[in-house]
Amino acid sequence: MFINDYCIYSKMGIDPDFKKNRQKVGTHNGHDVYGPVEPPNKLGIHGSVVAIDWDICNADGSCIPACPVSLIEWNDTPGNPLSNRKADPAREGDCIFCMACQNVCPVQAIKVTAP
Ligand code: F3S
Ligand code: F3S
Ligand code: ZN
Repeated sequence: MFINDYCIYSKMGIDPDFKKNRQKVGTHNGHDVYGPVEPPNKLGIHGSVVAIDWDICNADGSCIPACPVSLIEWNDTPGNPLSNRKADPAREGDCIFCMACQNVCPVQAIKVTAP
């Protein structure tokens, strides 16, 4: 749906300025985690280079086979109301910036930024 030429659904995706707008609250699998994190309901954003918003990821799973270097893995998130597993950028340092994951995610949960 477009309102004033602006797709309102695009607002539903990951905040492209999450590094400015959020605080780092920890690390996981070698990448940063950006809060707020209040498990199991709020899980934050995992990764800086390959950032995946776990509060938007609904476990569609398309990103995992799409990645040519297989750096995204499942991580169980029991009790989360949206999905009981999330895509985790487990080895974001391996990213070759093909952007397949970002393009394939149906809910725009992924933002890839070259360092
Ligand atoms: Fe989640 Fe999107 Fe991947 S919904 S599993 S980040 S394709
Ligand atoms: Fe893989 Fe996405 Fe990077 S598909 S190579 S993590 S841009
Ligand atoms: Zn993680």
